[in-house]
Formats: sequence, C-alpha cells, structure tokens
Amino acid sequence: MKNDRLIIFDTTLRDGEQSPGIALTPNEKLLIAQQLEKLKVDVIEAGFAASSPGDWEGVNLIAKNIKNSTIASLARCHPDDIEQAWEAIKVANNSRIHVFTSTSQIHMEHMLRKTKEEVLKDARESVKYAKKLCDNIEFSAQDATRTDKDFLIEVLKTAVEEGATTINVPDTVGYATPKDYLELLTSVYDEVKGGNEDVIISTHCHNDLGLAVANSLTAITAGARQIEGAINGIGERAGNTSTEEIIMAIKTRQDQYGVEINAETKEIFETSRLVSKLTGYPVQYNKAVVGKNAFSHESGIHQHGFLRNRTTYEIMSPDSVGQEAKIVLGKHSGRAGFKDALKKLNIDLDEVAFNSSFETFKKIADRKGEIVESELLAIIGQIENSLDKTKLVSVSVNSKDDFASAKVTLNVNGKEITKESTGDGMIHAAFTAVKNILNSDAVLIDYRVESITKGADATAEIVTIINDKNLMKQGRAISTDVVHGSVESFLKALNK
Ligand code: KIV
Ligand code: ZN
Repeated sequence: MKNDRLIIFDTTLRDGEQSPGIALTPNEKLLIAQQLEKLKVDVIEAGFAASSPGDWEGVNLIAKNIKNSTIASLARCHPDDIEQAWEAIKVANNSRIHVFTSTSQIHMEHMLRKTKEEVLKDARESVKYAKKLCDNIEFSAQDATRTDKDFLIEVLKTAVEEGATTINVPDTVGYATPKDYLELLTSVYDEVKGGNEDVIISTHCHNDLGLAVANSLTAITAGARQIEGAINGIGERAGNTSTEEIIMAIKTRQDQYGVEINAETKEIFETSRLVSKLTGYPVQYNKAVVGKNAFSHESGIHQHGFLRNRTTYEIMSPDSVGQEAKIVLGKHSGRAGFKDALKKLNIDLDEVAFNSSFETFKKIADRKGEIVESELLAIIGQIENSLDKTKLVSVSVNSKDDFASAKVTLNVNGKEITKESTGDGMIHAAFTAVKNILNSDAVLIDYRVESITKGADATAEIVTIINDKNLMKQGRAISTDVVHGSVESFLKALNK
C-alpha cells in the first residue's frame, strides 16, 4: 500500500543557501525557518553543520527555536560530520541526520577518489553510526540518476539495513527526464522499500533542464512520499525544485496526485518574499505561484473573461497563496496606525527600532502619499539591519557624457568625513567615494535595483552584494532616490 501522506522537506536554508552570492546570518536563517514553520513544511533542512562555525550556529539556533517541523542537518559520510550535525540538532523537538555520499562512477572517481567497495562501506558505517545517535536518518546517494542502477540499489538497501528511514534519490545535476525518473524511482520503490512501512522514498531534483518540479511530481506516481525543494527554487546552479510549486500542484491537482500535505498555502507568498529579501535573489515576474505577474491578466480577451468569471483564466486564486493581503497606510497615519499595521503583520519592534521605522515611514509617506504592505516590510527590514556604525549624511552626483563625479559625506563613529570621487557612472563614483572614506577594498559582486511599487514615483529596493575580505556580504535599502538608496545599500553591506 502506498501511504498517501506526502512529506514536504524544505532545503532553502541548505541547498538554497549554496546559491552563489547568498550568505545568510544565523538570525536571518532563523527568520526564514520561523516562516517555513508557519508554512507548515514537515522538515526544515537547516544547514550543513560541519561546513562552518556559522552554519553550525544557524542550525543550532533553528533547532532550539522551531517546535513543529523536524530539523535536519546534512553530514558527509564521516564520524566528525555526523557528530557535529547531531550536536547542532539534538535540542530540537524532532531531529534528523541527513547522511550523503556520491554513488556515480564520475563522482566516485574524480571527486571522492574511492572505489565502489569503499563507498559502500562508508554508507554502511555512517548510517550505522548516525543511527546510534538519532532515530530519524535520511540517506542520499548523490548523483543517483547517473549511477549504475544495480550499484545504486545495493547502496540504498545497505542504508536501509543499517536503519535509514528516508532514502533519497537525488537528480543532482538535473539530467533526468520525467520518464527516466519514473523508471528509476519505481525500481527503488520495489527493490529498496519493498513492503517496509518504515521507509520513505524521497526525491531531490535540480533544475538544470527546467524539469525539477515535473520530475518530483512524477516520482509520486512511483510511490515517493517525500519531496525536497527550496522556496523560489533557489539552489546550486539553476536551483532546486520549487517548494511552493509542488505545494500548489498537489493542492490544485488532487485528482492526479491524491496525496495529502500539511502546508498552509496562504503563507506561500510571504515566505517567498522573505526569502527573496534576505537572500537578495529577486523572484522573476512570471515565476509560477509567487511571481508578481502570476495572477495578472493583461490582454483584453483575458480581462474580459476574467471579469465575468475568475475561473476562465485562473486555476488557483491569489488569495489562496497569500498574494492579496495588502495593508495601506496614508501620509496622515500616525504612530497608532503605524503600530496597528505592524501588529497585523506580527511584527514586534523595540522602542528604538519602532521610532526609526516610524521616522523612515513618515519621510517616504510624505513624498509618496501612501504606503503598501511590501514597502512597509521593506522599511522594517531596513531598520532591523541598521544599528550601523557608519551612516550616510549626504550624497550628491554629477553626470555628463561618459564622466561622473560624486561627493559623499559619511558619519563614521560620530565624525563626519567628506570625499569626492569620479567614475564611469554616478553609482560607481559614489561607491568609490565611500570606499575611499572607509579605506575599504571591498569588491562589488552584484547590484540590483527593483521597483517595489508602480508608477514614476515608485519606491526602489536596492540590493548590493560585495566581497569584503573574502566574506560575501549583502546590503539592502529602499528609497525613492536611486543614488541615495544605492549608497545606503552599499553601506549596509560594508557595515555587516
Ligand atoms: O543535489 C544533491 O545531490 C544534494 C544532496 C546532498 C542531497 O544536495
Ligand atoms: Zn542538491
């Protein structure tokens, strides 16, 4: 009997965080984990505890604070990795050690430099060791879809013999097609799970050919009962299966999949927004489920049909994924109205943060007239990140043909310093002036400006990612003035 409960395993904080340029602090990870808990995902893979002290700290912080979802940490087939994973997660109400090794010839030969026999022995000993510490063990055969099938089945059976309760079959390089994956998962289901009620077969698909969600869903037909994904589909290279797309596909096409999930779909949009905000990874406008155009109707024919009956062009409602919740504050809103809006968003600020947020809100509302929810959240995010030692006092720029200059004044630990600089453009000139004031050799890795409201007076969110002494840092600011906001965002990154 294929049981009909599907486990949603979210790896935004582990595989998702492995995306280039993403560097979340332990506190930022906790904020995302808390939101994932509201989304009611079953398992949160909080990180790879042995990979760095920061990752260990993030995993441990999440394990201490999350009550309902199971907390997993990744570990290589090595006693030290397994012990560190266990130390970080053992305080959780429910914990899982996720052990992995590679099984494809290409990975064993060029990456692990191990023979099949050595890999099989690693898998056996590691699962056995992890099982002594924790009852809930997941085993993953990295690059499973390019692994010799007989060998894959042998390794997976060994993991089950030693007590693994979840068997994961990753399409690590996003190579499989739905047909391949269905065949492979069917064999794993028949030969590895057999009739064992205690073993769950899991999918973990990467999106190199854009097939991650399709492959994961196909695997349900073969009996898989756990899908691993990341919010907004972030992850190595082209990313992972999108958690939110899986949730909505299962809910919308119950007729096809017939499996139950626990997810709270109304939390999807907020989860997506938070992940995008903290990672600095924008969500493409036409992204399924969470893109800002996912529920917009442009052409006359579509609008006409839609206005008569939503279902003409809508298979799920924006409300069902939380896309419609908007709070608007006006320029005349006072402290009480502002406080009330924060309360509705479950935001609790201390007095200092509240006062600074209110001040920023007033400045923006004065210029813009009204503030929507996304702007309010951006203001709070900006304030939460800004107990900064260096503050922007003023910036002025000049640009003519190919030449630009900037004059920047910063308050550095209470002292005002001004420098002028030139550059290829206004932003380059302003950033150079900031670097000269702070004597910094940070390198700009990524810089993005995105409007978070509509119209010519739109508020822009500016994200800056820098490499500062080999540390990736990210800054974010919102402003109606792009130059001012860019310097603020650059300073936020430098201040981290
Ligand atoms: O893609 C992959 O194979 C992984 C494993 C560690 C599960 O991320
Ligand atoms: Zn992966």
